[in-house]
Amino acid sequence: MQRIFSGIQPSGIPTLGNYLGAMRNWAALQADHECIYCVVDLHAITQWQQPADLMRQTREMTASLLACGIDPKAHILFNQSAVSAHARLAWIFFSVTRLGWLNRMTQFKDKAGKDRENVSAALYVYPSLMAADILAYHATRVPVGEDQRQHVELANDIAQKFNHDYGVEFFPHIEPLILGPAARVMSLRDGTKKMAKSDPSDQSRINLSDDADTIALKIRRAKTDPEPLPDDMQGLEGRPEARNLIGIYAAFTDTDHAGVLRDHGGEGFGKFKEALTVLLVEKLAPIAAETKRWLDDPASIDAVLRDGAARAAVLADPIVAEAERLVGFLSARG
Ligand code: TYM
Repeated sequence: MQRIFSGIQPSGIPTLGNYLGAMRNWAALQADHECIYCVVDLHAITQWQQPADLMRQTREMTASLLACGIDPKAHILFNQSAVSAHARLAWIFFSVTRLGWLNRMTQFKDKAGKDRENVSAALYVYPSLMAADILAYHATRVPVGEDQRQHVELANDIAQKFNHDYGVEFFPHIEPLILGPAARVMSLRDGTKKMAKSDPSDQSRINLSDDADTIALKIRRAKTDPEPLPDDMQGLEGRPEARNLIGIYAAFTDTDHAGVLRDHGGEGFGKFKEALTVLLVEKLAPIAAETKRWLDDPASIDAVLRDGAARAAVLADPIVAEAERLVGFLSARG
């Protein structure tokens, strides 16, 4: 059975983008994979987080994942800082990673913006920590949204260089799993920008905690053009907002863009948005309710994370200890 690893930052409330690009797929993949899912708090602090917020958001993200159907008994769910193997392997990978590789990372450029001199060093080496997350478990499949593809490719470069430098075949090849018609959900206000937890405008995204009225309002206000839905894919060219809403609809009805256009081509956006709202409320309301149920009992969330971390460490510790031995570290553990 293939081993899966994936992670999500506890840097805010998860969005529809996180759900369709990652969380929903994580839940489905549990049926035929061994899955390790991680709330990546080490990654979160690469950008400033108030300590109390980080703690709360770590629990909230865990609750959302449980509500989306992650099974913490059959699989593993934990927070990254609780397993020291991640940070240990990351340090080795910082030494393997070339600066030139990091310079090509588009997400760093996006996040750093114009203020490059003033972002943390950790934000820059963030993809090497991500490689350590995956490879500390010898995981071979990584379900992510489209925006993480470049980071998974970099993880393969790091694995290959480690194997080459130390003359071993120790780290496996990793495949990104980028699934479905909504692997890149865009902002509701600007179809050329990714929907993100960190966007200053709450109107740009659907949060998994939004209630029915909020979802209806956000979809009603979502940017579109004045044309009706086209009849075929060609008619979506140059219409990023239309493409985005149709992709979201497709994901929830288990079809693709072309399938939605077959049923709704020619419809005005007013009517289509109503249908989309009904669908979103129907699918997201149970998740919001279940998240709330978990959050009413924080001790049970902490227990899930503690148990997950203990089981994750059992898998990662020997792999990272072997990497340390290959590098030439004299081990205090013998
Ligand atoms: P993060 O927290 O930004 O996002 C978590 C997951 O959600 C996906 N995603 C989206 N998918 C579609 N449309 C969107 N608008 C959208 N926004 C986010 C992301 O692709 C991701 O799959 N670096 C990672 C976390 C991470 C990780 C890892 C992932 C740390 N270590 C190891 C995989 C393996 C991140 O910041 O994700």
